Amino acid sequence: MCGIVGYIGKREAWPILIKGLERLEYRGYDSAGVAIMNSGAISVYKKLGKVSELSKFVKNKSDKNISGLVGIAHTRWATHGEPSDKNAHPHLSMSGDIAVVHNGIIENYLSLKKVLIEKGFKFKSDTDTEVISNLIEDIKKSAKVSFDEAVRLALLEVVGAYAIVVLSKDDPNTIVVAKKGSPVVIGIGKEEFFIASDATPIIEYTDKVIYLDDNEMAIIKNGKLLVKTIENEVKNPYIQKLEMKIEELEKGGFPHFMLKEIYEQPRSIKDSMRGRISAKDGMIKLGGIECHQDKLINAKRIIILACGTSWHAGLEAKYFFEEIAKTPTIVEYASEFRYRNPVIYPDDLVIVISQSGETADTLAALKLAKEKGATVFGVCNVVGSSIPRATDAGVYTHAGPEIGVASTKAFTAQLTVLFLMCIFLADKKEVLSKKEIKKLLIELENIPEKVEKALLCNDSVKKIAEKLKNMKNFIYLGRGYGFPLALEGALKIKEISYIHADGYPAGEMKHGPIALVDENMPVVFIANHSALYEKVVSNMMEVKARKGVVVAIITKGDTNIKKIADYCIEIPETTDVMMPFVASVPLQLLAYHVARLRGCDIDKPRNLAKSVTVE
Ligand code: F6R
Repeated sequence: MCGIVGYIGKREAWPILIKGLERLEYRGYDSAGVAIMNSGAISVYKKLGKVSELSKFVKNKSDKNISGLVGIAHTRWATHGEPSDKNAHPHLSMSGDIAVVHNGIIENYLSLKKVLIEKGFKFKSDTDTEVISNLIEDIKKSAKVSFDEAVRLALLEVVGAYAIVVLSKDDPNTIVVAKKGSPVVIGIGKEEFFIASDATPIIEYTDKVIYLDDNEMAIIKNGKLLVKTIENEVKNPYIQKLEMKIEELEKGGFPHFMLKEIYEQPRSIKDSMRGRISAKDGMIKLGGIECHQDKLINAKRIIILACGTSWHAGLEAKYFFEEIAKTPTIVEYASEFRYRNPVIYPDDLVIVISQSGETADTLAALKLAKEKGATVFGVCNVVGSSIPRATDAGVYTHAGPEIGVASTKAFTAQLTVLFLMCIFLADKKEVLSKKEIKKLLIELENIPEKVEKALLCNDSVKKIAEKLKNMKNFIYLGRGYGFPLALEGALKIKEISYIHADGYPAGEMKHGPIALVDENMPVVFIANHSALYEKVVSNMMEVKARKGVVVAIITKGDTNIKKIADYCIEIPETTDVMMPFVASVPLQLLAYHVARLRGCDIDKPRNLAKSVTVE
């Protein structure tokens, strides 16, 4: 978590840094801060709260000096030290000569701090980061080395994860960047450089970028860039071209990114299948896994690793892979898998799923799986992020940047790619006929249009949200493909409206959760026409018999459930297996409208961050 930004060039740094922080706020918004190099001094401004608080604070300051062509900035998701002004980044060294912004965790900061305190250093914050600025200052002075060499030597002593950007008062035309475990991108402009945790703050200035690898550092000095490892080996960096468009980062007239992203799903699902299927020929082409496709085809078992919403997509994929491709599949929380001693057989295939491509637990689980000899495929959204770089092969979801903290379009894009992988596998294993494959692919091609139609439920969902906005709890129930969706629906409402919610397989209800049902308990059923429809209707009757408030997501034209449920939301008819694409929409909209009516900060819910780069 945490977002870092840096600029060095010929323009005023302040507006570039502030705009960059705003783009990275999805990574954390506990505090924000900027350090600007001006007239041989480093001025630091930092404030508890969002970037807007920092801007307000500086605007009202009479003695500000925010003019300068070099600067660094940070938006924080607190780990070490509570959110406060003093714990906000940038962190200066004791003399004020060195300024650091940091994303990650320095694991040995206490032992380093102890040594520095013994040498007379005084600390102002509770953070691990302040150790880095003081350590650099100590080495620079005691070893009498250059600024960048002091950074390099300091990093040799540091244990943990970091992406850092560092300024030195004595070297006003230099910025040093380094990475281990946390992401950092350097944008290359004309005699100017932009540094950020991801490419979103950079894209409006340049499309040429370098992604630093772990243990690499970049020294940007007098308009030149040098990349080397922290062991001092000079590298020839690969300059990539960004494909992202600037409009993708704006709200486009929607009040929130989340709503915009919900409405983008017809497009993002289409983009995630574009160029990968020919429905009329029953063909799927997944270029990203071609070189390792035999591992998938011959896999005796698939192990899916992910967290949160991506884990829910993985659970849907388990149903796809077992029902359609006849390959046994297990789905594990990456945070559990990484600390077990899991058994991986040579003919297992591991698939990791991650929107951000940076989730620390997923990355660690991936590394463990590789250490145990597994071939690992990735399903990720952010191109060039750490997870796809560490996998053997993979397929990107083409959802475009997802800014709202609650994942929406990334989920349905993940379903699309996982479904394509599944049909590809079923085809290669010849467990489905060409005719069946064509039929499934034709229906998949219809899904964007059906999602578009599902979005028409927005007004009716808004009215239901109005009725339920003050409820204290929600239960979500579904069977088969509806069960992972029940979990996802519950997660969505929990994270953005702060209402407690639980998702269960509908058949489990009578084994405990039904005790909670009374007239104050809304129960959301995923109750589309499916092989398990009758069973779900029976569960609904059980809830009604106990005076529960039933909200049912039903197939358009279902008059039967309309007689039972208190509220119905209609979605277009599709096959069982493709229902999750369409039924995700009302679940997302319900969470959105309840949160909006409760006045919650939808795009930046409390305590959360988009990219969970700490465990
Ligand atoms: C929920 C949500 C999180 C993420 C989880 C994994 O709306 O966004 O639960 O799904 O933190 O993140 P990624 O997919 O980036 O690995």
